Amino acid sequence: MENKVYLTGIKPTGTPHIGNYFGAIRPALKAAASFEARYFIADYHALNTVKDPAELRRNTYEVAAAWMACGLDPEKTLFYRQSDIPQVFELSVLLNAFTAKGLMNRAHAYKAAVALNLEKGEDPDSGINMGLYTYPVLMAADILLFDADFVPVGKDQVQHIEIAVDIAEAVNRNYGKELFRIPQPYLEESSQVIPGSDGRKMSKSYNNTISLFLSEAQLRKQVMRIVTNSQGVEEAKDPDSCNVFSLYKLFATPEEQAALAARYRAGGMGWGDAKKELFDKMNRMLTPIRDRYTALMADPSVIDEALNRGAERARQLARRKMEKLRRAVGL
Ligand code: ADP
Ligand code: TRP
Repeated sequence: MENKVYLTGIKPTGTPHIGNYFGAIRPALKAAASFEARYFIADYHALNTVKDPAELRRNTYEVAAAWMACGLDPEKTLFYRQSDIPQVFELSVLLNAFTAKGLMNRAHAYKAAVALNLEKGEDPDSGINMGLYTYPVLMAADILLFDADFVPVGKDQVQHIEIAVDIAEAVNRNYGKELFRIPQPYLEESSQVIPGSDGRKMSKSYNNTISLFLSEAQLRKQVMRIVTNSQGVEEAKDPDSCNVFSLYKLFATPEEQAALAARYRAGGMGWGDAKKELFDKMNRMLTPIRDRYTALMADPSVIDEALNRGAERARQLARRKMEKLRRAVGL
């Protein structure tokens, strides 16, 4: 198992939130502790939607700093910017020759954009750029170039990996040899959906996120805003159906969880107290992460150095793979 390669792309579109941390960052870092891991910042994928240079640059630093603050060790995990690896683009041109146009027509992200246009009575392709349309090919190149076995992703990305498999198999079949390793999605079974401040799934699209790097004062404010039911102080409360308690479980030890659950059930504890307990435990875990993040953002040259070193190593692997592919296809 040890030589299995885990690879994932992180789109730089905003500061990560607690849902991202428990659903994506932490499981990926856990995998990186035992396996060969290759994690990169998918800045070309972000370019499809982020057209402001300062914003794209800032987002890239933010996600790089976030992952490093959360524990990614760039000496151990290959960590790079997608845009630093020209072989990714070379490979995506090669893959285009093996990708059925119909496959792209069936991709969820493109289909959803078309459906939205039709709903609004607009031209089906209104506002859709070729970057969005061919998004799955670039993603397949990201994955296949680096011989990934497992691709840690959320459920929404599984179709993209299936497309990468289709393309890889088409190439392998044509040349009668295993030029590409066949990847598979890696879904963290145990990671549950983290609720946001309104009880729905925490998501940027719902505006209910709690960012990982809020100052202590902002964090307290966000926690106090979490929606609860209208039960009074004296009433006994049910921890298992409570949003505050669901979040508490992520940050507290089993003993602390049992103690707070008992206070819920006994009655006599108001929502303000429960939220204060949640804030304390969150702040305990997030303070060192926040401190590391702040230090990195204050001196992004550390991030640049890490990403540049990663790019050097990644390009070596990519160059070797691309040479082999060019030979095999007759270029
Ligand atoms: P958002 O919904 O805020 O736009 P993304 O779609 O960018 O988040 O998600 C990035 C990663 O974080 C994905 O792997 C996704 O599965 C994970 N993730 C996002 N929100 C949550 C959540 N509320 N609970 C668990 N995992 C989440
Ligand atoms: N499409 C992914 C997302 O939106 C990001 C991504 C780009 C990716 N290339 C990848 C993920 C390769 C896994 C592997 O989150």
